[in-house]
Amino acid sequence: MHVMNTFMTKETATLASEREEVLKNNLDYTLFSWSKQKGIDPICVHRAEGVYLYDYDGKRYLDFSSGLMNVNIGHGDQRVTDAVVKQMQLVSYVTPSCATQVRGDLGKKLAEICPGSLNKAFFTLCGATSIENAMKLARLYTGRHKIITRYRAFHGATYGAMTAGGDPRKLPADSQQVPNVVHVEDAFCYRCPWSQEPQSCKLECISHIERVIDFEGPQNIAAILMEGESGSSGCIKYPKNYWKKLREICDRHGILLIADEVMSGFGRTGKWFGFEHHGVVPDMVCMAKGITSGYLPFGCLMVTDAIAAKYDNDPLMIGLTYSAHATACAAALEVIKIYETDNLIENASKIGAYVNKCVEDLKKIHPSIGDFRNTGLLGCIEVVKNPKTKEPMAPYNAPASAMKVMNQVGAKLKELGMYTFVRWNYIFIAPPLTVTEDQIDEGMAMISEALKIADANCEASPH
Ligand SMILES: Cc1ncc(COP(=O)(O)O)c(C=O)c1O
Repeated sequence: MHVMNTFMTKETATLASEREEVLKNNLDYTLFSWSKQKGIDPICVHRAEGVYLYDYDGKRYLDFSSGLMNVNIGHGDQRVTDAVVKQMQLVSYVTPSCATQVRGDLGKKLAEICPGSLNKAFFTLCGATSIENAMKLARLYTGRHKIITRYRAFHGATYGAMTAGGDPRKLPADSQQVPNVVHVEDAFCYRCPWSQEPQSCKLECISHIERVIDFEGPQNIAAILMEGESGSSGCIKYPKNYWKKLREICDRHGILLIADEVMSGFGRTGKWFGFEHHGVVPDMVCMAKGITSGYLPFGCLMVTDAIAAKYDNDPLMIGLTYSAHATACAAALEVIKIYETDNLIENASKIGAYVNKCVEDLKKIHPSIGDFRNTGLLGCIEVVKNPKTKEPMAPYNAPASAMKVMNQVGAKLKELGMYTFVRWNYIFIAPPLTVTEDQIDEGMAMISEALKIADANCEASPH
């Protein structure tokens, strides 16, 4: 034991001495997404295991956003490493024109977990390439050109996917958006654009889409594309029957229904896919993130037999050098096996219910919690300045000057040992699906502590 302690101390000391160089090389030679490069202070991650990240100083961080809501099986699962190594020893990569065992096995497995006739997989590299190919294929298949999407959505950062989303991260590149994407307002019940309350709601959000379709010409609309469950825009829950109505509209007009399951797929919401909460089957499903739990970059566009059949005789004019990458397919196959053998999807549902209960308890002591929206383990707290007026603690697309309080909340979480996604007035709760109740308690205690900063800036006494 004594020897072990000495070793640990030495290792820790060596690591701490490496930190400076690691950070310097990162900052001097690499660019960080979505931020000003000066003044950033990234966590220097040395290793990660389960729901925790460990930095070079030995500090532990509870990963409450599963990376970017992708590391669903948790970090450092050696079963994936073994599957990847085994595949690389056989063949790492062959061109997408070749057949491999792992590609076929994965396609078959995905057809098994997808409902209806979603039986054919086109493998991509990430979420954005799944979306790009879905948009392209929907246009090729229908011969129509317009795609309807939501403003409060993120579908990726390539040109087409960026345009499809409404997320304001696209606005600096506004002039470069692709044509023929038509955005609609969200069904955002907490902040209903039609000022309705649940008791007065007549699904105005659906009538709105029907009007937009009439204006745009249903004969010109190839697809409606929506996240299976909303993610980074604030886990905005679809009202009851919303997806069913969408399906009806699509069927009426020959429009394809595309579910973006990049974030909500692979057990994140307590079911394989978010759309399964809504009792519909889409025509195409975009996947990434959880398909490999982030162990390797990978994605998939799943389509129905009917769509695939058109290309029995017509050439399928989509392609990528790394489509069906053998090593990535092996990672995906193993990760899917882990979801099943470790009952992770059931765990997401069970622990998700526990999270809901914990946040209900937090609401009693934190007036700054305006709303909490969660499905399985895809959840987000909306922090407000005033729970009655619902004025957000930081507005939509908040400039840095409006982020003072939320930045302090985020900094507090980091100081306490939590890594999560704090955006505008949102705090995301989306830990790996392996998470336990004790680990949720650990995270909730940190969130509760950090929310004291928000409460001090909130114009209400505890509700
Ligand atoms: C719903 C959704 N779709 C697509 C994407 C884009 O995925 P990627 O970053 O892998 O291109 C994201 C990324 O966060 C996402 O949340």
